[in-house]
Amino acid sequence: MLEILRNRRSVRQFTDQKIETDKIETLQEALLRAPSSRGRNPWKFLFITEPTTLQKLATAKEHGSNFLGGAPLAVVVAAEVSLTDVWIEDCSIAAIILQLTAESLGLGSCWAQIRLRPHDIQQSAESFVRELLGMPGDLAVECIVGIGYPQDRLPAHPASYLDYGKIFQERFS
Ligand SMILES: Cc1cc2nc3c(=O)[nH]c(=O)nc-3n(C[C@H](O)[C@H](O)[C@H](O)COP(=O)(O)O)c2cc1C
Repeated sequence: MLEILRNRRSVRQFTDQKIETDKIETLQEALLRAPSSRGRNPWKFLFITEPTTLQKLATAKEHGSNFLGGAPLAVVVAAEVSLTDVWIEDCSIAAIILQLTAESLGLGSCWAQIRLRPHDIQQSAESFVRELLGMPGDLAVECIVGIGYPQDRLPAHPASYLDYGKIFQERFS
């Protein structure tokens, strides 16, 4: 796990290689093993591999979602918000578990933020995604994780990148 954390970087450029079915199944299992508050599991995960849909998802935001167009897989992380008041926390944990599991399988990934982001001046990114994917009204979208085999990997963050000034002991002052 520590090696995965040390080497992990966001990957936004992918090769054309399809992700094997057994790896997709492992990603699905990892998502469903994520912890959630009170075990409510408010999430729904939509796996998308259809290139035309991926191209459309790439336009969800003006900046920061383009990479989805070149990913062989995108996972939309959404939740039934009526089930819990902490769906954002639950979905964030599931999303990072997805990313770390992808890393452990030799895949790369990047998070595209959808919640609270605009598509354009008239529409939110969430509403754009909702319309595109025919999502029911009680589902909220947190993010979309693009996953695939890395075209190239950014170097691991060196130890000097770590800001130990953000870590405190016993008290914050
Ligand atoms: C909550 C969250 C939202 C993010 N949103 C985006 C995004 O919309 N588009 C994008 O390209 N990267 C996004 N990222 C990836 C970050 O830009 C990236 O993790 C950060 O720059 C650090 O780089 P690293 O992941 O390579 O260490 C997001 C990451 C997080 C945790």
